[in-house]
Amino acid sequence: MSGGSFEVIADFWDEQVGEEGDAFHRLLVRPALFRVLGEVAGLDVLDLGCANGATSRALADLGARVTGVDISPRLIEHARRREAARPRGVRYMVGDAAHLPELPDASFDRITASMVLMDLEDAAGAIREAARLLRPGGRLVATLFHPCFQIPDGSSWLIERAVVDEQISVRVWRYREPSRTETVAKVDQPAPTVHYHRPLDWYASRLVESGLLIDALHEAYPDDAFAEHFPEAARRLSVIPGILVIGARKV
Ligand SMILES: C[S@@+](CC[C@H](N)C(=O)[O-])C[C@H]1O[C@@H](n2cnc3c(N)ncnc32)[C@H](O)[C@@H]1O
Repeated sequence: MSGGSFEVIADFWDEQVGEEGDAFHRLLVRPALFRVLGEVAGLDVLDLGCANGATSRALADLGARVTGVDISPRLIEHARRREAARPRGVRYMVGDAAHLPELPDASFDRITASMVLMDLEDAAGAIREAARLLRPGGRLVATLFHPCFQIPDGSSWLIERAVVDEQISVRVWRYREPSRTETVAKVDQPAPTVHYHRPLDWYASRLVESGLLIDALHEAYPDDAFAEHFPEAARRLSVIPGILVIGARKV
């Protein structure tokens, strides 16, 4: 599909996510991303799958020189509109993360892919392209739904309540085989989006084959601010992590 599955829901996505990202991203995903990413001030950062630019703007606010890329032209329009309303010097491009010929080799210090790799049909190509675009010593940092515990149509939460306590677990019935699923993640989302499950060793193998050595694996757990906003989700995600952050360095 031209523009990808997010193109169809781009206006809805922009409205939901707004200028700074939705609460789930702001309170759980982004702190975990930034913790693994470290200092970005003065660095050239490519934000893959930038959508309406929520993470790109946050990176620019930390002092990075940011380029945001997304396959959805409509989401890039939203990102540019927001940049025009409050300029931060972020450059936005429509492009496929797996094929970015307009960007020269070794032109970025950091590449972020926040909740993106599992939305890419050709995630292997995107990892290879990230390796090409990174300077030696540069890092790719990706957040994703935890491939071991949050598998679309392959896992579910199981909450067993006894008289005085409860046991929270995740039931996984499909893990080993990569799969493609269409899901509706948000209330009133007008159309489904497409997601791809790949097991953890798939990601590790693609990174290593591309010359990117994993230097961080971080599982995000809720803090008090998240728990205040999402008390039910916080009970579950405090036991079993929903978000995995992978950092990998170009050797
Ligand atoms: C969950 S959203 C990412 C959210 C965003 N990173 C943020 O922090 O707000 C996934 C994004 O990946 C984009 N995408 C899907 N396939 C792509 C591809 N081949 N190349 C670039 N972007 C792609 C979608 O259009 C969508 O905007």
